[in-house]
Amino acid sequence: MAGSGVAQLRDDDDIVLSVKNLVMEFKVGRDEIVHAVSDVSFDVKKGETLGIVGESGCGKSTTARSVVQLPKPTSGNVMVTSEGDSIELTGLKGDALRKVRPKLQMIFQDPISSLNPRRIVREVVKEGLTIWPNGMSAQKIEDRVDEVLESVGIDPEIAANRRAHEFSGGQCQRISIARAVALDPEILICDEPVSALDVSVQAQILNLLEEMKDKYGLTLLFISHDLSVVRNVSDRVVVMYLGKICEIGSSDTIYSLPAHPYTRVLLASAPEPASTVDATESAIGDDIPSPINPPTGCRFRTRCPSAQTLCEEKEPEMQQVGDDHFVACHFPVVNN
Ligand SMILES: Nc1ncnc2c1ncn2[C@@H]1O[C@H](COP(=O)(O)OP(=O)(O)OP(=O)(O)O)[C@@H](O)[C@H]1O
Ligand code: SF4
Ligand SMILES: [Mg+2]
Repeated sequence: MAGSGVAQLRDDDDIVLSVKNLVMEFKVGRDEIVHAVSDVSFDVKKGETLGIVGESGCGKSTTARSVVQLPKPTSGNVMVTSEGDSIELTGLKGDALRKVRPKLQMIFQDPISSLNPRRIVREVVKEGLTIWPNGMSAQKIEDRVDEVLESVGIDPEIAANRRAHEFSGGQCQRISIARAVALDPEILICDEPVSALDVSVQAQILNLLEEMKDKYGLTLLFISHDLSVVRNVSDRVVVMYLGKICEIGSSDTIYSLPAHPYTRVLLASAPEPASTVDATESAIGDDIPSPINPPTGCRFRTRCPSAQTLCEEKEPEMQQVGDDHFVACHFPVVNN
């Protein structure tokens, strides 16, 4: 199929978040630049969970933070569509940006430190509702706090007296979710939301996110380095390597027909490797190049078992290899 350069969904898809050519660079030292996110584009459909997966340092969190404009990306566009209105976030400042912020909420890996330790939990959940302009009366705000706390399984009476450190990690993540959904967001960005939790608690939080998604009509951007978690929760998956997207496809396609050599490495390295890849494909070593000086051409070429001369000379464009399946590789593995 033709190479379009970007992974495009169908025209009739109801897109709530459209990220185009996102670039985030950090100046470090005297004149060095960290190329944390380089020309990343993806769309998120209303009501879906889009997973983002990749090794530590590949730019998952930076992508998420750039989407919510904290801080603003170096370049690129982030378009949010809510109730028929499309808003381009990168051009907004001050009040205009503050007004749309509630539409995009984030929850983080470390729930305890992401909640203000000095305030009682009820106040933490209420905070956003009193800061962002929403026209709610004081009583409506109290009712909303009760409702969201109950919906995440936290007794509002208990939350009225205790601070975050008095709750377990799992309970704190429930409180973070309550705080986020209280603002009636369109999109919930979850950055490694279960990575810091015991395995037994992880499933409870993932189930809760699924419930919240149905109850509040949320769209999820779900970030994790854990392929099995991403597979279980995501409708579609974005695979990132060193600040770039390698492959995008439905969860089933990514796991049953992985086309990018890096996706295949991830699947072969999983504790329970996918049957579609050979275990030997995981043998690429841990020597990840620096994002300060990424390899020319394809950024994965220094570790890629299939690399050829062209991979050094020319950056591969995103090309479509199947239904909603896109890969950035000169020599994708297709028909496997
Ligand atoms: N403020 C910053 N200044 C300089 N470099 C940064 C900054 N934030 C992130 N980076 C660098 O950008 C790259 C991407 O980092 P990021 O945190 O987005 O990765 P990640 O995929 O979320 O990793 P992890 O799985 O460990 O959370 C890394 O090399 C990181 O060191
Ligand atoms: S473009 Fe070349 S180096 Fe990059 S993933 Fe494909 S085969 Fe490997
Ligand atoms: Mg991260």
